[in-house]
Amino acid sequence: SSSSSSSTYSSSHLLRRFHSSESSPDRKVAVLGAAGGIGQPLSLLMKLNPLVSKLSLYDIAGTPGVAADVSHINTRSEVAGFMGDDQLGQALEGSDVVIIPAGVPRKPGMTRDDLFNINAGIVKSLCTAIAKYCPNALVTMISNPVNSTVPIAAEVFKKAGTYDEKKLFGVTTLDVVRAKTFYAGKAKVPVAGLNVPVVGGHAGITILPLFSQATPKSNLSDEEITALTKRTQDGGTEVVEAKAGKGSATLSMAISVAKERVWLFLDPLLQSVRIGYKLTKFLFYSSCGGHHLHGPTLYAGAIFADACLKGLNGVPDIVECTFVQSTITELPFFASKVKLGKNGVEEIYGLGPLSDFEKQGLESLKPELLASIEKGIKFANQS
Ligand code: NAI
Repeated sequence: SSSSSSSTYSSSHLLRRFHSSESSPDRKVAVLGAAGGIGQPLSLLMKLNPLVSKLSLYDIAGTPGVAADVSHINTRSEVAGFMGDDQLGQALEGSDVVIIPAGVPRKPGMTRDDLFNINAGIVKSLCTAIAKYCPNALVTMISNPVNSTVPIAAEVFKKAGTYDEKKLFGVTTLDVVRAKTFYAGKAKVPVAGLNVPVVGGHAGITILPLFSQATPKSNLSDEEITALTKRTQDGGTEVVEAKAGKGSATLSMAISVAKERVWLFLDPLLQSVRIGYKLTKFLFYSSCGGHHLHGPTLYAGAIFADACLKGLNGVPDIVECTFVQSTITELPFFASKVKLGKNGVEEIYGLGPLSDFEKQGLESLKPELLASIEKGIKFANQS
């Protein structure tokens, strides 16, 4: 059930000469739920990430195929697939970052909370294994409802005596990605270089985009801001309904166009890193808009994992919005801008100045977010 990759000499040799991050420290990344709708493209993106040296793909079914497929890509990391409970320990051992997109997604008409009964149990058992096999890993939670699964993970780790609040993250990056896309479209500004913080949680009204802090500024009307806020909050539902029962937001969650990644794709074709680099720069600056709070990078799940790895490796000023244990409001967990460093969370930034509309949004999201957090805590402690 495990396979290793080997890259051809010519392209990896060229990449090594021109790509400084090829000499970055060894980092093992595990994806739990790797054969799923998010798991597969996310595994592909992690295989393209030159910061990863070992990629461990785990699922309850289907991982041998996904791992064999992904392992043939000629990039740095060695790929191994693991399937079923008895291989979970091996999948996790030595991981620096664990990404969790395991569990059922929504169908039309469902809220994220409707997933609780199934996903809470999955997350609880996966986190029990993480506490045992890689207690020091950064854990990035994608499985919904994130507002509850992150508190569940925290409780499981507390019980195991391994909890480090600096190393547990709910992935809310997709909310930021959506806020930027929708804002850019409405304000008619280039999406590249745009920043919009999104705070609160990751479900419905708990998602609070702070368009008043968007840069560059625009003069959108109050009505337009209200509509953009609603569209960002309902972005997941928009995709679930458009897919009509055939899945949730898997591609925007995982997929990317980014400097290193485009380069790696193009290199074997172009036979020239110079051309690849120029073309990549052109593609990047002209169209892709893969600019995040800290600069050009990947999308959603892969952006966030990339940011964690950069933080671990000591790259300065890595800032992402993420759902973490927090004291910036009276709620025990809250999403806001967070600086990532060698030990995970390095600094949690305050909310900054809010518009009246955002202040109202903040007050109305608190009861729902608190209830979701408490539901997770209760679940984790009941059995
Ligand atoms: P999917 O059903 O396509 O894939 C889920 C995968 O998890 C499947 O391959 C399944 O075999 C696997 N799985 C189930 N139980 C497992 C276990 N105990 N251990 C390991 N793997 C297990 O679902 P999809 O679309 O990939 O979504 C996954 C999760 O991500 C859902 O909970 C969804 O709501 C959430 N999601 C989160 C987003 C976010 O922004 N945080 C965005 C979109 C979805």
